[in-house]
Amino acid sequence: RTCSILGAPVETGASQPGCLMGPASLRTAGLARTIRSLGWEVFDLGDVHVAPQPPVPHANPSVHNLSDTIAWIEALEPAAYAAAKAYDLPIFMGGDHSMAAGTVPGLARYAAEQGRPLFVLWLDAHPDLHTLDSTESGNLHGTPMAYYTGQAGFDAYPNLAASVPVENLCLMGIRSVDEAERNIISTLGIEVHDMRAIDETGVLAPLRGFLDRVAAANGLLHVSFDVDFLDPAIAPAVGTTVPGGATFREAHLIMETLCDSGLVSSLDLVELNPFLDERGRTAKLMCDLTASLFGRRVLDRMTRSFG
Ligand code: ARG
Ligand code: MN
Ligand code: MN
Ligand code: MN
Repeated sequence: RTCSILGAPVETGASQPGCLMGPASLRTAGLARTIRSLGWEVFDLGDVHVAPQPPVPHANPSVHNLSDTIAWIEALEPAAYAAAKAYDLPIFMGGDHSMAAGTVPGLARYAAEQGRPLFVLWLDAHPDLHTLDSTESGNLHGTPMAYYTGQAGFDAYPNLAASVPVENLCLMGIRSVDEAERNIISTLGIEVHDMRAIDETGVLAPLRGFLDRVAAANGLLHVSFDVDFLDPAIAPAVGTTVPGGATFREAHLIMETLCDSGLVSSLDLVELNPFLDERGRTAKLMCDLTASLFGRRVLDRMTRSFG
């Protein structure tokens, strides 16, 4: 099976700089080598490059770096479409989460062409459901989900060739939600498993329920993994840490279960800010979690170490 890795060094959607170095840090941590060791053919496609853009104003004065975000969307949408067409499981290395405003629409266009629905598993402390009108921080990494589901308020972003129906979303790990986002979630009835729900049920029950829906619809499944899904104690390299995140064991169990399902067709690894990391530990953890998704078994490693 084939996997591609593509860097999207975008940081204009985040409040602080550093995500620019995310792809380099994941490469240094050995992402390609790790996946190869699991029997996959891995193609490193390099990084997408976007030149800094002259600023464009918006009616919401808090919005900033709008023109850069538009340029990234325009570059990443076709790149994601092409990677999905050419490889079994493309990985997109961020870069802040605004890159999902490019990757997910490209994957949705590919899925539509295949006559299959695209589902999105969003692993994040945040729902990133702001519109350009509702965002208060103006940090555009807070907007991709509202955009690619086709909400109003995105006249400034490129027109979507294909959107993702809100019924095809599953959000897990959510624990920081703004008022406008809360309203969208309840109005649209989006499937959200916040940290309280995960404490009550564990991660497996909601995940299996969602995977059953994807399988029943013969869907493609995109996983968008924001570093801040994880607890800051194990993953410090992110600008938007929120206490009470997923544990090491929960995160690996999710990735192993996704692997077992055989349903995952693409992956974003986003919001890694290597400037905030401690001796590469967050980058290494993201590689190890990706390894679990690509078939590594913790028990296999234990057997090798001790057997
Ligand atoms: N909701 C907050 C905002 O809009 C935080 C967004 C964080 N998003 C992220 N991709 N880390 O500013
Ligand atoms: Mn480069
Ligand atoms: Mn996010
Ligand atoms: Mn987040």
